[in-house]
Amino acid sequence: MNTDALRGEYLAALDAASTPDAVEAVRVAALGKAGGITQLMKSLGGMAPDERLKVAPAFQALREEVSSAIEAKKASLGRAVLEARLASERLDLSLPVSPSAPGSIHPISQVMDELSEIFADLGFAVAEGPEIETDWYNFTALNIPPEHPARAMHDTFYARPEGGDEASRMVLRTHTSPVQIRTMMSEKPPIRIIAPGRVYRSDSDATHTPMFHQVEGLVIDRGITLGHLKWTLETFVKAFFEVDDVTLRLRPSFFPFTEPGVEVDVGCSWENGTLKIGGNSSWMEILGAGMVHRKVLENCGLDPAEWQGFAFGCGIDRLAMLKYGMTDLRAFFDADLRWTRHFGFGALDVPTLSAGVGA
Ligand code: DAH
Repeated sequence: MNTDALRGEYLAALDAASTPDAVEAVRVAALGKAGGITQLMKSLGGMAPDERLKVAPAFQALREEVSSAIEAKKASLGRAVLEARLASERLDLSLPVSPSAPGSIHPISQVMDELSEIFADLGFAVAEGPEIETDWYNFTALNIPPEHPARAMHDTFYARPEGGDEASRMVLRTHTSPVQIRTMMSEKPPIRIIAPGRVYRSDSDATHTPMFHQVEGLVIDRGITLGHLKWTLETFVKAFFEVDDVTLRLRPSFFPFTEPGVEVDVGCSWENGTLKIGGNSSWMEILGAGMVHRKVLENCGLDPAEWQGFAFGCGIDRLAMLKYGMTDLRAFFDADLRWTRHFGFGALDVPTLSAGVGA
């Protein structure tokens, strides 16, 4: 058997092969089940021992040479295929983003991202709850029993007729405070969360829309005091408005789920008709807060002798208006492209503490 002829045939075929499929065809023809070299190797079994000794080394050498030539060709074709792909799929990352990219981030989304960034730095996680809530989470667990006048204050949208079982009556949540309850019932203290989201009240004028946004804050730990609340709010307001000269004023107030409850004003000034955060020549109410009422802790299965906490609730839309200078809340939800182009943010303007969250 002339191994040289076979060698010449396979190596020439390999040489001519220009695709991985063509190489595979050579491999099958030479080394496949019915391949030429495979047949040669099989023929060894039928030979007399003397003859086998004579020809076997040449057969094996042929097999090795052809299979390593196939491997080498596969590798070089693979490299060529990869190089062709790399050349054709090149992406120039230094190209500028199209300046006319459509769409923008709504100021509400931007402010929510800013809040998450600021509070994440203070060790707060972001919590969520449903917008269609049960009466129990929205009111009763927050120490607002049925018949409590605070229910009337909330202009609630009831999703099911009144009456029936209080635990199952559904409402559109009127505030983000039910997320406090859900978090305390599902997590063990210490707890530090903020819960931004949509809330609903049947109310509509220049400063009220039936859907608006709040952010809730909740801290539960041992030995928590109003001092912790004030420091946290001051730190938040400084970072959010990017001013160091921040004075907060806590006024006693009433919320059924706090004891004591406070309303928080931030010092500000008016310059040529525009409001500036800082100083204390004027005051602007920005949020409600307080120490979590012991009845609320008990409703969530926490022992008030062991755990204390503070909470706050703040309108996000108002924060955005104050920071970015919009005057009419209704325009937030009109979907007017001229407005969103003017007040919207670029998709790459991700707020970071290091760059200033409003940068
Ligand atoms: N839920 C209240 C509202 O919508 C705001 C609020 C006040 C939230 C005091 C709190 C709080 O967590 O402690 O008017």
